[in-house]
Amino acid sequence: MTAHAPGATPRHYLMCEPTHYTVAYEINPWMDRTRATDTDLAVRQWRTLRDTYLDLGHTVDTIEPLPGLPDMVYAANGATVVGGVVYSARFRYPERQAEGPAYEKWFADRGYLTHTAAQVNEGEGDMLVAGDMVLAGTGFRTERAAHAEAQELFGRPVISLELVDARYYHLDTALAVLSSDPADPQIAYYPPAFSPGSREVLRSLFPDAVVATDEDAAALGLNAVSDGLHVVVAPRATHLADALRERGYTPVPVDTSELLKGGGGAKCCTLEIRR
Ligand code: ARG
Repeated sequence: MTAHAPGATPRHYLMCEPTHYTVAYEINPWMDRTRATDTDLAVRQWRTLRDTYLDLGHTVDTIEPLPGLPDMVYAANGATVVGGVVYSARFRYPERQAEGPAYEKWFADRGYLTHTAAQVNEGEGDMLVAGDMVLAGTGFRTERAAHAEAQELFGRPVISLELVDARYYHLDTALAVLSSDPADPQIAYYPPAFSPGSREVLRSLFPDAVVATDEDAAALGLNAVSDGLHVVVAPRATHLADALRERGYTPVPVDTSELLKGGGGAKCCTLEIRR
């Protein structure tokens, strides 16, 4: 039997307007400094994404974008928040390192319990909550030791998954959580982005998962945001949209093409705050 969308629940997101967005350095294969970026277009696309969440009834908070941090728009990397506890990010590359404390301060200023990471980890870019589990990526950015740190902090099982394709350098570029219902968590993923052992783990944990095509993955279609019913997804991921519809989800196409030049899509721009 194929799993079915459980229905929408209200979400709380943190986002960062791409005021200072550009591609000033190259830390993933999508980034090309020689290609022009259009900051105004990035801002317009980002506002459409934010308004989409608001129209769906979700809450969106924003963090002040800081000059000199062009990747700060990718808010998902800023932290991982489970049960109101904030596991701060500690970025791999110097170009992004100042973002970790900036996001941590945003949470601390609002009374959240924050934990300063000892291990390199890039927030929800590599840690996705699926039901009671946390699925955690490693291989390019987040250290395996950070998975253990997160498990101790959250008291939830953390499943380590090894990423093997540099285009899919963060877990959220290769896997999307469609439903975080603990009774029946559901995901979509792109198997070739994972090591053989990790593929087996995903197959056994999620036998009903949506399997994305090469085209879906190359459009960063898996960088999607689901509220349990609506799935905000890249418009070019058409096979993925069809597969979602078959399972009772409603794909909501939002074009974030300008932000793709930095190697991110809708999910990268969206940090979920879980109380
Ligand atoms: N340019 C950014 C980087 O390479 C993109 C981050 C995308 N974020 C994400 N959650 N996958 O770090």
